[in-house]
Amino acid sequence: MGNSGDEAMEMGWRWPAFAVVVACFFVQAALVWRDVGPHPGSSLAMSPLARDGQALFRRQGCKSCHALYGMGGFLGPDLTNAARRVPPARFAQLLHDGAGPMPAYRLDASAQAAIWAYLQAVDATGQGTPPAPAGDDGPLFAAALQRGRTAAGPLSAEVVAGARLVGEGSCGGCHRSFAVDPSLRAPDLSLARTHLSTDELRQVLVHGRGLMPPSGLDGRQTAQVLAFLDWLSAHRDALAPRRALDFGTLPWFAYGLVPASDTAAETKR
Ligand code: HEC
Ligand code: HEC
Repeated sequence: MGNSGDEAMEMGWRWPAFAVVVACFFVQAALVWRDVGPHPGSSLAMSPLARDGQALFRRQGCKSCHALYGMGGFLGPDLTNAARRVPPARFAQLLHDGAGPMPAYRLDASAQAAIWAYLQAVDATGQGTPPAPAGDDGPLFAAALQRGRTAAGPLSAEVVAGARLVGEGSCGGCHRSFAVDPSLRAPDLSLARTHLSTDELRQVLVHGRGLMPPSGLDGRQTAQVLAFLDWLSAHRDALAPRRALDFGTLPWFAYGLVPASDTAAETKR
């Protein structure tokens, strides 16, 4: 008896509650489907420029070859932290000329700036830690030097001496071959020449910079290292290890989301 009264009352609130749940589902589905701009619940505010870049990144099909956080294509490197790793001059050159399978995109300066802003915004959200490129785990750039010898014949004594100083000196304690050290952020030395002049490079070697200590090399050795870095940068595209598609080691197993900094941690969910 009392039951039927309760039931009527329950039915009274059940239907609106059900309607709210259904409405929430559709709102959520619509948000996921649209997937634009800052994600709901995330405090990552992208600038309008970066948002343009995100749209371009999709429209130009970058994702078919590049992953962000390990999701996307595998023909090119993961771009989660590309803004930290790739000097802007190298980025501009890549977009303009392409590299290997990467086509040349003749985008105008504003489109290029937008994509760069987007990559910077993605970089600020955390760190993707891709596995080191296979095959170059020995002394710094030793494998590249070997590839260079095979491909280009004898090298100048200056370059060989510089390579030996870099490969056998302390540099390999912090720098890695064709990659940025994930913990120290020591830059990829094969790209140093794309954004620093010979003079600026010499300054870094002699005086150090940030976490980089003064190299302690004398004038002659410094010149040899500079000759090697020149050679390395001029031939980078031929010398860098080709990333083979190995579906046994698909990146998403290897990628971890760790905060890039305390502030970045707040932008993560
Ligand atoms: C057909 C595949 C393909 C497409 C499409 C493509 N790329 Fe690439 N990209 C590559 C490959 C392969 C490399 C590695 C080139 C090398 O280092 O020699 C690369 C390298 C890069 C790098 C340097 C990354 C690093 O760590 O050195 C950036 C940045 C980049 N691409 C951005 C883009 C952007 C932005 C787009 C879209 C406008 C795009 N790519 C489209 C294949 C592609
Ligand atoms: C203790 C770790 C450490 C050692 C050892 C070290 N470096 Fe560095 N190096 C760094 C870090 C970290 C940076 C980035 C500094 C910054 O962010 O300002 C750097 C930056 C550089 C740069 C500037 C690169 C750029 O793209 O801006 C060059 C060139 C360089 N190092 C060369 C060398 C050479 C050559 C050696 C060996 C003689 C060496 N480093 C040894 C940590 C190190």
